[in-house]
Amino acid sequence: MDFITLAKTRCSVRSYASRKVEPEKLGRILEAAHVAPTAANLQPVRLLAVQSEEGLAKVGKAANIYGAPLAVIVCADHGKAWVRPFDRKQTGDIDASILTDHMMLAATELGLGSVWVCYFQPDILRREFSLPANLEPVNILAVGYPGEGLADPARHSRTRIPLDELVSYETL
Ligand SMILES: Cc1cc2nc3c(=O)[nH]c(=O)nc-3n(C[C@H](O)[C@H](O)[C@H](O)COP(=O)(O)O)c2cc1C
Repeated sequence: MDFITLAKTRCSVRSYASRKVEPEKLGRILEAAHVAPTAANLQPVRLLAVQSEEGLAKVGKAANIYGAPLAVIVCADHGKAWVRPFDRKQTGDIDASILTDHMMLAATELGLGSVWVCYFQPDILRREFSLPANLEPVNILAVGYPGEGLADPARHSRTRIPLDELVSYETL
């Protein structure tokens, strides 16, 4: 699948089959995260891949992951992330989100569904997984085989603002 077809095929999946994600596919998804760029290559990111029934129940206390059999909790290490000197903006969330997007697209290529979840209770995740204070859970990526049909890859003309509203050339 060429890249733009892959990007259009990806959609948020909110219903999953009980089938597990095979270890080889999980490996490919994690490899996609591993090669993602981060600011100054500081790699201030940690991933927690959760597949056990017990672990998924813990994730479920903090978030709705729609019955997905795999959740990757993407954490930013704010003590390690690059800081822009001019305004002290720190890129930990950006770095974490690039890894998340790489994983999401890799999952699509492998025939898996996914949904990016930010609607979670961070304190509960911290407690359930004993996360150290320097790690902030930024995103959860829920992954699995779709339980029902996927969204139309041609939907973006209806579901996104027009390209000419999104983009300006040379001046805003
Ligand atoms: C940063 C971010 C946070 C999101 N958080 C949630 C969430 O907590 N729960 C959820 O069901 N979907 C969540 N989504 C999915 C979006 O709602 C979805 O990507 C958007 O509506 C576009 O639909 P599509 O992914 O099917 O193209 C999130 C997406 C992003 C990028």
